[in-house]
Amino acid sequence: MAQIVGGLATSHIPAIGNAIARGKQQEPYWKPFFDGFPPIHAWLRQVQPEVVVVFYNDHGLNFFLDKLPAFAVGAAAEYRHADEGWGIPTTAPLAGCPELSWHLVEQLTAAEFDLTVCQEMQVDHACTIPFQLFWPDQQPAPVQIVPIHINTVQFPLPTARRVYELGRVVGRALGRWDDARRVAVMGTGGLSHQLEGERAGFINKRFDLQFLQSMETNPQWATQFSDRELVELAGTQGVELLMWLAMRAALTEAGSGVRLVHRHYHIPISNTATGVLALEVLP
Ligand SMILES: [Fe+2]
Repeated sequence: MAQIVGGLATSHIPAIGNAIARGKQQEPYWKPFFDGFPPIHAWLRQVQPEVVVVFYNDHGLNFFLDKLPAFAVGAAAEYRHADEGWGIPTTAPLAGCPELSWHLVEQLTAAEFDLTVCQEMQVDHACTIPFQLFWPDQQPAPVQIVPIHINTVQFPLPTARRVYELGRVVGRALGRWDDARRVAVMGTGGLSHQLEGERAGFINKRFDLQFLQSMETNPQWATQFSDRELVELAGTQGVELLMWLAMRAALTEAGSGVRLVHRHYHIPISNTATGVLALEVLP
């Protein structure tokens, strides 16, 4: 049985990739964001996850608006970074974990999730930047990954309730994986932001802080909202917080509860509210 050590979540704004590439972490604009990570680095050195299941949303790299699955699971031996733009230098490929991918595909299908399975899959900044943030001194990050894409681009989106169930089934499947490796679950995206239209630059600090608190004490809280309500509360791209919800739901199927390792909130970075979170699963 695999051991779920905990959950990680962070914003994945493309500008972060440029800040890392140019060594701007200590500059006044960036320092308040990057200061959210050292306590989590210390925790990761202790628990040393070997495999990471990462919920993220593709931004038009694998899937465009003409064909966009609600849920897609990567089942590749490696994932090459091929970003869609933004001038981010590409990073080294991330190692896959096909044996866990296929286990999750089998378990999710048995639980009546109809998936797209990707035996070849490129990844964009939503998948690569978090690994640069959480393992800044080791590139590529010393883990194998299973990326799970959730559509937050083309409406209608999967409901928060459905995403929560997806995460729960992933957590249960990890508990059934006949392997002793240490696994972490990650969600990337958000928090509140909107890039276009009359509300471009929209940030909702009150909602973000409520959402962050729910991650600790009331994980199902966000499932009360429809996709349109989430857009109203968090912005058109703020709906990426669904990835955090999937991560948190997975942890409900492991251990006896969670302990907050560290959380951090900073506004704005590039017109976006940023959040960082690490939760440890209690035995
Ligand atoms: Fe994004």
